[in-house]
Amino acid sequence: MWLVGMDTRDEKGDPMTYILAIANQKGGVAKTTTVVSLGGALAKMGNEVLLVDLDAQANLTLSLGNDPNGAHGSIADVLLNSADIYSVSRQSGIEGIDLVPANQEMDLAERFLPIRQNYECILRDGLNGRQAYDFILLDCPPSMGAVTLNALNAAHMLIIPTQPEYFSAHALRNMMAATRKVRGQNNPDLVYRVLITMQDRRNRIHRELSEQILNTFGDGVFRTVIQLDTKLRESAVAGLPITHYRTTTRSTLQYNALAEELIQYVEETNQQADPEFI
Ligand SMILES: Nc1ncnc2c1ncn2[C@@H]1O[C@H](COP(=O)(O)OP(=O)(O)OP(=O)(O)O)[C@@H](O)[C@H]1O
Ligand SMILES: [Mg+2]
Repeated sequence: MWLVGMDTRDEKGDPMTYILAIANQKGGVAKTTTVVSLGGALAKMGNEVLLVDLDAQANLTLSLGNDPNGAHGSIADVLLNSADIYSVSRQSGIEGIDLVPANQEMDLAERFLPIRQNYECILRDGLNGRQAYDFILLDCPPSMGAVTLNALNAAHMLIIPTQPEYFSAHALRNMMAATRKVRGQNNPDLVYRVLITMQDRRNRIHRELSEQILNTFGDGVFRTVIQLDTKLRESAVAGLPITHYRTTTRSTLQYNALAEELIQYVEETNQQADPEFI
């Protein structure tokens, strides 16, 4: 585990879990692919990882070869019926990765969550106080509703995958507004990172827009860029993260680099927070 030897402990001295929300209201920008692939890379590095499917489409659940309607329940039971999140988690079949599945009941969650008291923080409370995992990755639906709001309130970091396409810029502005709102209410320490995905280096527009995103968001953009790789589609059909499907394909190397960049950031942040390092 990467946490070993580091002082990543909360006030009570318990090891900390780093929670990532992967969200963008724009559809098809590689949110789910990033959850599976980054999760795979982190697990291969020896971390214990929990992947949480928050989308009624259940693409995360399916892309790990799991049945969305399995007997153990789903994340909707946590959000709507106060079920314990660990009672609905299951082994994904991949070493180091557990999964909380989703199914169509998440459509109900989107509608009925706002009726519940303090509904924005139900997921955060459900994940609180459990240190079994080094990383928890939350796969959000392509909308900025009650479910995504729960993920942003539970997370330390919001990762916003985005394609270097013209219409993605508008969605990015909306995600920034959502981040500011969440910071101003229940989660003041939320940080964000834009992740450029599905980049085609041969495409001039892609190169120019990638440059513009870097210029606009500066340190708010991961240096690692995920380029187009058709093997990613194959790995989803095979029910495996790309990191476990093809160890040397381009996107495996890039998602490994992303995991390393993330871990370096978390280590540096923890050192700054630790008085011994100041
Ligand atoms: N780097 C890539 N190269 C090629 N194809 C990719 C890449 N990343 C993702 N894809 C493909 O693009 C499609 C959309 O990806 P994905 O389902 O991860 O997006 P999403 O943002 O989760 O979508 P939704 O908004 O519907 O939840 C999938 O078919 C996936 O295999
Ligand atoms: Mg998805």
